[in-house]
Amino acid sequence: MIEIRGLRKSYETRYGPVEAVRGIDLRVNEGEFCVLLGPSGCGKTTTLRAVAGLERPDAGVVVIGDQKVSDAEAGIFVPVEKRDIGMVFQSYAVWPHMSVLRNVAFPLTEGWRRTHAAEVERRVKLALERVHLEGLEKRSATELSGGQQQRVALARAIVIEPKVLLMDEPLSNLDARLREELRTEIRRLTRELGVTTLYVTHDQSEALSMGDVICVMNRGEILQIGNPEKIYQEPASVFVAEFVGKMNFLHVRVEGKDAVSSPLGAIQCLLPDGFGIGRDVILAIRPEHLEVLEDRESPVADTNTFRGELTSRWYLGDNVFCEVSVNQQVLMARVPIDLKLELGSHVRLRFPPQRLRIIEELPGNG
Ligand SMILES: Nc1ncnc2c1ncn2[C@@H]1O[C@H](COP(=O)(O)OP(=O)(O)O)[C@@H](O)[C@H]1O
Ligand SMILES: [Mg+2]
Repeated sequence: MIEIRGLRKSYETRYGPVEAVRGIDLRVNEGEFCVLLGPSGCGKTTTLRAVAGLERPDAGVVVIGDQKVSDAEAGIFVPVEKRDIGMVFQSYAVWPHMSVLRNVAFPLTEGWRRTHAAEVERRVKLALERVHLEGLEKRSATELSGGQQQRVALARAIVIEPKVLLMDEPLSNLDARLREELRTEIRRLTRELGVTTLYVTHDQSEALSMGDVICVMNRGEILQIGNPEKIYQEPASVFVAEFVGKMNFLHVRVEGKDAVSSPLGAIQCLLPDGFGIGRDVILAIRPEHLEVLEDRESPVADTNTFRGELTSRWYLGDNVFCEVSVNQQVLMARVPIDLKLELGSHVRLRFPPQRLRIIEELPGNG
C-alpha cells in the first residue's frame, strides 16, 4: 500500500521557484498497479522520487505499507535505502562493467540488506527466471540489448522482494515492438509477485493497457483518478479527454432535460443532474462512437443525424479514420473499412445519445 497526502514540492531555479507538485493525494491499494499519466513536466517524476525518498517534500505525508516514510511537518524522512522499494528508471542504470549476475545480486551483497551467499544465489536465480534471463548470468551488461538491460534492471529491483515497485518510464528507450512485449511482461510479473506498483508514463496507450488505476496529472496536480474504462469513457475534463485519446468537442447550450443546441442543430443527449437550462457546456464524443452513414436523397429526419461532407480519409488497415465537415465544424470519425466512401461525398453523421458526454466548461480546462 502507498499513501500520499498533501504532497508538495518546489524547486528553486534561476527564474524563481517552480512548483513541481502542488498538493497531491493518492492511495494505491495493496497489490494494485497505479499509473501516473501526464505530459512532460507535470510532476510525475517528482512524485515518484518523493515516494522513493530521493526527493524531500516541502509538505505532506508519504506512507509505504505500515511505515510513515516522510512527514514534512513532523520532520520525518526515512532515507531511500531504508525504504522497502524496488526502482526501475528510463535509463537502464545497470553497471556496464559487471556481469548480469553481479548486477542483480548487488542490492543483496552491499549495504544493510547483505544476505548470506546461499540465499543470494537462490534469490538471484529466481529473479532472473522471473524476467526470462536464465542463462545470461555471466554476460556483461554491455553485451545485452536494450530490452535485456531493462530486464536486468527489473530483476535487480525485485531481487530484494520489495513491498512496493516504482517505475519511471521504463519502456521509453525501447522500440515499439519491444515496448509492447515488455508491457505484458511487467504486468504478468507484478501480478505474480502481488507487488504494489506506481508506474510513471506519458504514453496513454501504455497507461490504458497496463493500469488497474490511472491518475491523470497536469501542472503538478491530479485531475482525475479512475480505472482505464472510466478515464477513457467518462473523462471529467477536456484535458483528460484529449490526453487519453482523440475526442470531438462541440460548444453547446443546455436547452432542456435531454437536449442541447449545437452549431449543427439540436442534439438529444442524457444530461447529468445539475445542468440548468441556458448553461454553456461542452459535448464530447470519441471518433469511434460517431456513426457515418451513406447519404440518401430523402431529407434527414432522424434525431441526432446531420448531413456533411467527407473531407479527409486515412486507411489504417483495421478501420478508416476520416473527417466530416458539417456546418463548418470538422468532426473526426472511425469507420469500418467496408464502408466505401469517396472523398468529397455527402454522408450522414449520427450522434448516438448514449455515447455523448457532457463536460463542464471550466477556465483552464483545456
Ligand atoms: N531538480 C530540479 N530543479 C529544478 N526544477 C526541476 C527539478 N526537477 C524537476 N523540475 C521541474 O519540476 C517540474 C516537474 O518535473 P518532473 O517531475 O520531472 O515532471 P515529469 O516527470 O512529469 O516530466 C518541471 O517543470 C521541471 O522542470
Ligand atoms: Mg519524468
